[in-house]
Amino acid sequence: MADPTAPGRTALARLDDMNRRALDGGGKEQLARQHEAGKLSARERIDLLLDPGSFVEIDRFVVHRCADFGMDRVKIPGDGVVTGWGLIDGRKVVVFAQDFTVLGGSLSSACAAKICKVMDLAMKIGAPIIGLNDSGGARIQEGVESLAGYADIFLRNTLASGVVPQISAILGPCAGGAAYAPAITDFILMTERTSTLFVTGPEAIKAITDEDVTREDLGGAATHAERSGVCHLTAPDDRASLAQIRELLSFLPSNNTEAPPRRASTDPEDREVPELDAAVPAGSRPYDIRQIVRAVVDDGRLFEIHERFARNIVVGFARIGGSPVGVVANQPLELAGCLDIKASIKAARFVRCCDCFNIPLVTFVDVPGFLPGIDQEYGGIVAHGAKLLYAFAEATVPKVTVITRKAYGAAYEVMASKHIRADYNLAFPTAEIAVMSPEGAVDVVRRAEIQRAADPAAARARLVEDYKAKFATPYRAAELGFIDEVIAPRMLRSRLARALDLLRAKRDKNPPKKHGNIPL
Ligand code: HXC
Repeated sequence: MADPTAPGRTALARLDDMNRRALDGGGKEQLARQHEAGKLSARERIDLLLDPGSFVEIDRFVVHRCADFGMDRVKIPGDGVVTGWGLIDGRKVVVFAQDFTVLGGSLSSACAAKICKVMDLAMKIGAPIIGLNDSGGARIQEGVESLAGYADIFLRNTLASGVVPQISAILGPCAGGAAYAPAITDFILMTERTSTLFVTGPEAIKAITDEDVTREDLGGAATHAERSGVCHLTAPDDRASLAQIRELLSFLPSNNTEAPPRRASTDPEDREVPELDAAVPAGSRPYDIRQIVRAVVDDGRLFEIHERFARNIVVGFARIGGSPVGVVANQPLELAGCLDIKASIKAARFVRCCDCFNIPLVTFVDVPGFLPGIDQEYGGIVAHGAKLLYAFAEATVPKVTVITRKAYGAAYEVMASKHIRADYNLAFPTAEIAVMSPEGAVDVVRRAEIQRAADPAAARARLVEDYKAKFATPYRAAELGFIDEVIAPRMLRSRLARALDLLRAKRDKNPPKKHGNIPL
């Protein structure tokens, strides 16, 4: 048996002791409070997030340097954040998880330095950065030093943007300026009931504007998923949120120089989908565009992003032939699929995210136009709609578009039309590609004729039908080469798969510039 007093043993015993103290975090009582609140600890979260046994923790013994307010007596190894790296589906990621059991996960300058260190590491090796946020914000006892720590993180978030994927899970409070770090990242996930995210809390709002609001209504998951659009994915609890991160990452490359990860698929690429031939109803009858999307992607799996926000457009990830694609689709179930301010912002952000991470775009078009309305105009639909136009035009990834029904006016051009560099444009025989709706067109150019008619309503109806037959079809656009193929809907999956395969080698560039000036 080893001599416990041997010098080597003493050193190891000391290490064991140090490790135990660090692993205890804020102590058993605080851990119990965390569990009672429906939250997991930082280390429990990391274990669920990463492949089993793959986590390597660094900076476990870092302590803060603050001596004010008696803080020299409150030093816990590791301080308020656990940092390191590990694997997700065998791929390297870096991770930081704020430890709420240590002074409410508040950010000391030492915590900030730990987070910055793993962010720098991620940039060096080209690995995604995953932040698990659960914090009372800047460590109040440290004053401006902890504020500076946040700014150091913001700078790295900005520099890493478009280089490595950045994912933020909000799993507890996240308030004040601290909210801006997640806001710069690519995806924000929130847990229902246990997380809040806001710049100014209810107390300050009451004092300044005399408005009453609860924390949950102000900055809970439902608020940000449905009203503000700040949150991309919600989950009932920590476990589900961490599982979402794993699936989300399965669609993303590790960095901007890599292709997104391919997976073997048992779903045949040339699978015909006969039910699609009758899937698009005539006229303006609503239907769920997700049914068409799910029918053509691998195994029917669409991983929707921003599902609860701006439901008139659907965005998300899927696979075709085992390779990830970004799906953008007008949704006729909501506002007849019109583009409005929120839909334009939602889709523009998603398109740019796919473009910076080399994910091909597949766009499903059924859009009667931009939503008319005083609110929309006053709200700046001109600038916001232009964001989507800009995003699609600027994107150099493979772009495949299918028009299922309506594609009217400016909205036709915006939705990844041939004119803004889409590579392969398909249309169903039911496609109506026109400068405006047939009714609108007839009211403008045949007004005099309608007014002169003995039965104006009947004359208008006849003229609308004439217009539809002549102009609102896919064939005029196909004659001009704006549509590459008009296909039977049943062939859509195989055509998408072949087009994406064809475009795998696509190389396209924008003119050299510092960066564009998207109408933000
Ligand atoms: C130091 C903090 C802290 C903070 C919480 N704690 N926030 N310590 N600095 N910012 C400590 C508490 O004192 C407590 O310690 C422990 O963490 C747990 O907090 P509780 O209040 O008991 O927990 P809970 O009831 O769940 O409430 C959580 C909370 C609340 C909502 C986050 O603690 C809170 O409102 N904290 C202050 C939030 C805040 O104003 N932060 C500064 C924002 S300014 P004990 O020892 O009692 O267990 C900011 C600027 C950033 O962040 C700017 C960046 C540019």
